[in-house]
Order: sequence, then C-alpha cells, then structure tokens
Amino acid sequence: MHCAICHGMDTKGNGPYLSSLKVTPPDLTLIAKDNAGAFPADHIIDVIDGRAQVTSHGSRDMPIWGDRYAIGAAEHFAGSPYDQEAYIRGRVLILVDYPRRIQQK
Ligand code: HEC
Repeated sequence: MHCAICHGMDTKGNGPYLSSLKVTPPDLTLIAKDNAGAFPADHIIDVIDGRAQVTSHGSRDMPIWGDRYAIGAAEHFAGSPYDQEAYIRGRVLILVDYPRRIQQK
C-alpha cells in the first residue's frame, strides 16, 4: 500500500512511479545478498521510521507514507488507549519482516 508505487508489486524496483524518480529503487530481494548474506534488519527499521534518510522517502518530518511508521505521531493516536511507541514499533516490525522473508540466497 505504501511502498509498491515505487518498489513495485514484486519489490524489484519497477513500480508505476518509477519514471518520476531520480534514483531507481533497489531490488529489495537483494538486501541480504548485498550485505554478505545477512539481512540488516536494524538498518531497514531505521530506513522506515526515518532515522536513516533515503531522499526518495521524503524527509524525516514528512515521510512519503505520512506518520504511519513515525514514533511520536501523537495526533494519529489522540484518545487511543494504546501505547503509541509499542504500536508503531509493531507496525514497523511487521513491515520489515516482509522483505526479510523474500531475500534471495
Ligand atoms: C516515492 C518512491 C518510494 C516509496 C513510496 C518508497 N520507496 Fe523505498 N526507496 C525508494 C528509492 C528511490 C530508494 C533508493 C534510494 C537511494 O538509493 O538513494 C529506496 C530505498 C529503499 C530501501 C533500501 C535502503 C537502503 O539503505 O538500502 C528500502 C529498504 C526501502 N526503500 C523500503 C521501502 C519501504 C518499506 C517503503 C514503504 C513503507 C518504501 N521504501 C517506499 C523509493 C521509494
């Protein structure tokens, strides 16, 4: 929903928004291969919650997917009984588990 427009349905970097991008999105199935076989989950978490900047993902204050994965997105949770940080952390971990599972050997 938030990633395929650029990364493509198959995560290989050929989403419909590709022609509007200055940098081609990487093939997300090759993350581990490009990292000596280990999936760098901590880095990918940082890429999504904004601690590691990727220009095409927007700025830390205004990520392209809005505040869905932003810790401290208080407005999003106004009146909610949930622990905001735990809730967002859960969302990010669920998201990162997907590219982790599709890595090529
Ligand atoms: C507007 C287009 C766009 C959207 C939407 C987008 N990405 Fe990206 N993404 C890119 C581009 C372009 C790069 C490569 C940037 C570079 O190499 O400088 C990238 C890089 C990445 C990387 C590799 C970072 C690294 O350091 O190796 C990951 C992981 C990633 N994106 C995950 C996601 C996820 C998960 C989502 C959805 C929540 C998402 N992206 C949404 C365009 C996008």
